Amino acid sequence: MTQSLTIRRPDDWHLHLRDGAMLQGVLPETARHFGRAIIMPNLVPPVVTGADAAAYRDRIMAALPEGMDFTPLMTLYLTEDTNADDLAAAHASGLITAVKLYPAGATTNSASGVKNFDKVRPVLERMAEIGCPLCVHGEVVDAEIDIFDREAVFIDRVLDPIRRATPGLRVVMEHITTADGVAYVQANDRDLGATITTHHLIINRNHILVGGIKPHYYCLPVAKRESHRQALVQAATSGDARFFLGTDSAPHIDALKEHACGCAGCFTATNTMSCLAEVFEAANALDKLEAFTSLNGPAFYGLPANDATITLTKGDPVTYPAKLETGAGPVTVFDPGFPLHWRVA
Ligand code: DOR
Ligand code: ZN
Repeated sequence: MTQSLTIRRPDDWHLHLRDGAMLQGVLPETARHFGRAIIMPNLVPPVVTGADAAAYRDRIMAALPEGMDFTPLMTLYLTEDTNADDLAAAHASGLITAVKLYPAGATTNSASGVKNFDKVRPVLERMAEIGCPLCVHGEVVDAEIDIFDREAVFIDRVLDPIRRATPGLRVVMEHITTADGVAYVQANDRDLGATITTHHLIINRNHILVGGIKPHYYCLPVAKRESHRQALVQAATSGDARFFLGTDSAPHIDALKEHACGCAGCFTATNTMSCLAEVFEAANALDKLEAFTSLNGPAFYGLPANDATITLTKGDPVTYPAKLETGAGPVTVFDPGFPLHWRVA
């Protein structure tokens, strides 16, 4: 039985760090284990220009504790007014790694997102030309579409038409939650990848709703039925290079999670590697963990894997604090609901 596993240092291809006191509180939780992360731009106001991204990157680096080695990979928030020249310059200089598409109203701080996809077509064409990937929050927002169907409908109505209209555009389907998402990625062997979160590999919708509502399991896209979770585990543990880790670790203070209109987001930065090792071991796929956390993401983005390694060891259950105290308030750490035996040495 494997008791120790050394892998390349992982990266997180979808992360919310926020700003100010929250940034200060959560950044070390990621930087402890991860070499790089794609930083989501849904601040208030959002990160829409190259200048915004440069300023945000500087605030992140200023918040990084002495001695920690971490590189934020910045993104721009796509709006109907995004300036393609500004975007292209930010990409050419290495300031940004990708651009994020939020359908307007789909999730936290997405009000400035895209309503009319035709309006962003020229920008998407420019991105295809310059090789700048598009990270997509793949949910339709139409009121008549059931929340559990929003990802599958988005693929048919929005994503597939965009990809057909924009050959060469590299797309990351962020935080896929359905067997439909897995199948769409598997059926397309060019220019398409997908991130999968830690929590969507662990919880299904029953975990949110059975026996009382569990606000700390509520995120968007919302977790689906068990068969979808199983499809995600299969994809993540398969070694298929199109699937890689994007935790979508999304801190909100407890007062805003435990609320009549609770915020969406699970905070998994602290214990993600322990959770994933447990999931991969249960699937008999510990040998595929490194591909998922440390190799497939860099390969998709055309970056080298990290040189450094981390070692996970298995032993008595590891306990993590239930809450992270930040200057913005307490943030509940994701509870996988089973004991964790793997720790990062
Ligand atoms: O659960 C989520 N939280 N999903 C998102 O898409 C956004 C994120 C956040 O920013 O809190
Ligand atoms: Zn997110």
